[in-house]
Amino acid sequence: MNSLIDKYNIPGPRYTSYPTVPFWEDNSFSSDHWQQSVLKTFNATNDSEGISIYIHLPFCEQLCTFCACHKRITKQHSVETPYLESVLKEFDLYIKLFGRTPKIKELHLGGGTPTFFSPENLRLLLEGIFAKSEIAENPEFSFEGHPNNTTKEHLQTLYDLGFRRASFGVQDYDPKVQKAINRIQPFENVKNVTEWAREIGYKGVSHDLVFGLPFHTWEKMEYTIRKTLELKPDRLAFYSYAHVPWIKGVGQRGFDENDLPSGEEKRRLYENGKRLLEELGYIEVGMDHFALEHDDLYQSMVSGDIHRNFMGYSSSKTQLMVGLGMSSISDSWYAFAQNEKSVEEYQRIVDQGIIPVVKGHVLNEEDLVIRQHILNLMCRLETSWDLQTSFPEIENALESLKEMEADGLVEISENTIKITDKGRAFTRNVAMTFDLRMMRNKPETRIFSMTI
Ligand SMILES: C[S@@+](CC[C@H](N)C(=O)[O-])C[C@H]1O[C@@H](n2cnc3c(N)ncnc32)[C@H](O)[C@@H]1O
Ligand code: SF4
Repeated sequence: MNSLIDKYNIPGPRYTSYPTVPFWEDNSFSSDHWQQSVLKTFNATNDSEGISIYIHLPFCEQLCTFCACHKRITKQHSVETPYLESVLKEFDLYIKLFGRTPKIKELHLGGGTPTFFSPENLRLLLEGIFAKSEIAENPEFSFEGHPNNTTKEHLQTLYDLGFRRASFGVQDYDPKVQKAINRIQPFENVKNVTEWAREIGYKGVSHDLVFGLPFHTWEKMEYTIRKTLELKPDRLAFYSYAHVPWIKGVGQRGFDENDLPSGEEKRRLYENGKRLLEELGYIEVGMDHFALEHDDLYQSMVSGDIHRNFMGYSSSKTQLMVGLGMSSISDSWYAFAQNEKSVEEYQRIVDQGIIPVVKGHVLNEEDLVIRQHILNLMCRLETSWDLQTSFPEIENALESLKEMEADGLVEISENTIKITDKGRAFTRNVAMTFDLRMMRNKPETRIFSMTI
């Protein structure tokens, strides 16, 4: 396995979109393009499909030094109300654009830390959104909570508003690792929020774990996994630590690079972790995720409905995803757009009555074909092509996959590629062979984390 790691541990995207954000063509994008694209998709969307809404709630009280999310650290809770007012104003701008009431199928609160906000403020935000929308049948409402500040009241309030899935950031239980990432989080806190969620009636609780953090050894990782299994979350994200200290605003400075496990050690953490999780009844779903058999994500993998977007994996697909809040990314299937990344600037633009998208990309025919192949690989670990879904460079892609085939990572037949069990860990590398935009514009500086 070591030589495979030497060979394939290279910088690469996580493919929550294609094209990936660094390869968006900003020059040919404008807010007008975006609005036209949203409207086209919205008008073509039937009520049973509905739309997805993602709301970015960026504030956290304390900086975790490993974190690569878009967040703003503050202890001032006076920021809550003005921020939520801006989010509601932004939603109004979309309502005006739609011209009729949207039906919400999926809603996700992400961050930052949604549970930084008081339950009362979250209720006001959601009631403001619901007052101008209809809710689809069997909606999927979920949120990310920090175990250190999620209260029973948060869980009850969100449950009463229709939320049935909660994910909690755990990361790791080892004291030395917690200290290095500046996140002291007792097991008791995670136990409480998990048990409260179940008592209240949530149908899915998920925990986020990260492997490859500073000072990680298998012993520490095993301890974290075994503690996690005492609570048996329905779903687990098992993320590979993305070390991206060159991104502005990332606080990955609470530890030294020498404190991080090597690529080879990191791979072992994943392989051993996967084995242990599988022994204990979890099934790997797509990339970075494990679920128990009853969980929707596993079921959606079996039924083929599984989808991947900026929030990661989802058990159903809507063509239109509207991202509200600073830095949020929206997707109309034919175009992507990202909101302004500074809180103050985001609020200023919205206050002027302008949809605050500042960059984006309109997909061309080729992008749409490649997007589907990459989605197939990330969600179903295989992709096929026919006359419509082939593309001129496919021979080059197959050529570069030959080495992976020889290494046992993929199986290639006439017009299908399948990622093998051994190749799962290298899914990002397989997807990269289809990434025509990256091939044509080889980045000069590091912009992605390592694939392993
Ligand atoms: C927005 S946070 C979750 C909610 C809340 N802020 C918390 O930390 O509990 C999203 C998740 O992204 C993951 N994450 C953040 N930075 C990461 C990094 N550099 N590499 C891998 N995963 C990361 C963590 O597992 C984290 O729980
Ligand atoms: S891991 Fe969560 S709580 Fe920590 S800084 Fe990132 S978003 Fe905030």
